[in-house]
Amino acid sequence: MPPAREQRRIASFFEDICHNYEKFSNLYSLSLFTRWRERLMDEIALPECGSALDIATGTGENLRMLGDLARSRGRELDVFGIDITRGMVSFADSGPQITLSRAEDLPFRDETFDISLCSYALRHFYQERVFSQLYRVLKPGGGVYLLDIKEPGNALVNKGYRTYLSRIVPLIMRFRHGRSDGREAIEAVDFLVDSLDYSPNTDIPEKLERAGFENVRTTPLTMDTAFIAKGEKPA
Ligand SMILES: C[S@@+](CC[C@H](N)C(=O)[O-])C[C@H]1O[C@@H](n2cnc3c(N)ncnc32)[C@H](O)[C@@H]1O
Repeated sequence: MPPAREQRRIASFFEDICHNYEKFSNLYSLSLFTRWRERLMDEIALPECGSALDIATGTGENLRMLGDLARSRGRELDVFGIDITRGMVSFADSGPQITLSRAEDLPFRDETFDISLCSYALRHFYQERVFSQLYRVLKPGGGVYLLDIKEPGNALVNKGYRTYLSRIVPLIMRFRHGRSDGREAIEAVDFLVDSLDYSPNTDIPEKLERAGFENVRTTPLTMDTAFIAKGEKPA
């Protein structure tokens, strides 16, 4: 969970970085962010007809992909997003309805959505609060789908991962972006490393179960540096 003082930093960080968000995240993840997001989409069981909520939607990439997926399968899906950062949301497609709101306090009625999802933002949340909100707004039988990076369980992999983020990525960033953009990119990686320190994301299944979800399953991704977690609200 982020310390209280981090909350303001989180919002202003994403406001500052929004114009470069996708470029930087693909660069330091070696495009894995995009591949993992595709994996997340593969996991989603779409209803024949219904609605989906993407929390901390940012530039709306999940909403766009979910819309495409539904169209390609001939499903009728209304997609909604929420986020706290106006700048990030300004890069989203205009179709889906996006509301400026905190994930900890979702502005929707109980049992509204068939599915809910979230990618690359769990570290910034008060997770217990957000999971109970997701549970509240999902219909009985609805599914939750989460994707984020995590601290790898293996100490050696963790050490290598931290070295990659703190030493190698800054070099790549400076080389690719020059001095000024490079500095912004390095700040972005520092922010990511800090977020892993305060939210290592190693106990997500337990937290989902405590919120009431059942059939919780997680899939580790790329040497346990990321994961997909899914669960169901009992029917
Ligand atoms: C790393 S971006 C991920 C954006 C998007 N989900 C994606 O997959 O590209 C994190 C997003 O979380 C949002 N965010 C952080 N804390 C939040 C909160 N408490 N409630 C809602 N959104 C939040 C930020 O504004 C930012 O857009």
